[in-house]
Amino acid sequence: MMQRVPGRAMNADARREALLVRVPNARRHLLGALFAGAACTVRPAFAQDRPLDVPYVPTGDETVDRMLRMANVGPKDYLIDLGSGDGRIVITAAKQFGATGFGVELNGERWKLSLRNAEKEGVADRATFYQRDLFDTDIAKATVLTMYLLPTVNLKLRPRILNELRPGTRVVSHDFDMAEWQPDARADRGWTRIYLWIVPAKVEGNWAWKQTVGPAAPAFTIELRQQFQVISGPVRIDNEPYWLQDARLRGEEIAFTVIGDAGGLRIRHEYAGRVAGERITGTVRMMNGDNATPSTAPWSAVRTQKKP
Ligand SMILES: C[S@@+](CC[C@H](N)C(=O)[O-])C[C@H]1O[C@@H](n2cnc3c(N)ncnc32)[C@H](O)[C@@H]1O
Repeated sequence: MMQRVPGRAMNADARREALLVRVPNARRHLLGALFAGAACTVRPAFAQDRPLDVPYVPTGDETVDRMLRMANVGPKDYLIDLGSGDGRIVITAAKQFGATGFGVELNGERWKLSLRNAEKEGVADRATFYQRDLFDTDIAKATVLTMYLLPTVNLKLRPRILNELRPGTRVVSHDFDMAEWQPDARADRGWTRIYLWIVPAKVEGNWAWKQTVGPAAPAFTIELRQQFQVISGPVRIDNEPYWLQDARLRGEEIAFTVIGDAGGLRIRHEYAGRVAGERITGTVRMMNGDNATPSTAPWSAVRTQKKP
């Protein structure tokens, strides 16, 4: 078990929010009480450049393990923990899951402790810590981002998470969500919640491709609209409207089904591919006609117009 240090002073917003998280349920009440308790120490006992945005409440060892498993952390991952406390998330990711990464912590005492803990656990070469403001931290390198912050802090970070992290990056948050950005997965145990998001590729815009249907090769278009990982939009074949079903986006992986009647044939095309910039490359499983045997073919679409 890693050594712990008590919480220190935090800014007025964070203190108010810590108290507000007492509602609406018992779990939040306890968490709020813990966070408010951490806030009771009025002055830091050591130099700290600015007040904390989040009080210190460590994530329990079992929850750390579950967060890392949920994000499927492995030796190829680069993990960043924002507000890293005593370093337990980065250290466990390195020691138990073979990952590399760093944590940033504003509080000097906890930052030094995390360095000592990494040394003690024999992973100082792969688990690094900086005394730094999380808002001044470059997160672009992360393949996994972990956070045990507060709702408003998560929301401040949300645009950066969506714009600076590569599509497919896993983001795990202990206890707090990101408002209308629904998680891709969520796990509750007792009072503890873990949220997982997969950073979605930006796919909004008009896409076009040609696909053989019987003797013809009609033009397909789809006007994709995007709200985080939720995608929808009208699909057309030779300018005629068709149905879009089961549209999904997970990181760079996109999938959807087009159904309708074309030239007297009932068609069902199941597309699955990977988005890379202005192109999607993948496969389509086609059924052209009710009794037709499905066939699979390569598929490639290009973005003809990007939404600003
Ligand atoms: C709730 S604790 C989580 C600690 C650790 N991630 C864990 O899960 O055990 C939040 C941590 O963020 C740190 N913190 C608060 N505001 C910060 C800021 N602006 N930049 C960096 N760290 C900050 C606090 O000192 C505290 O250690």
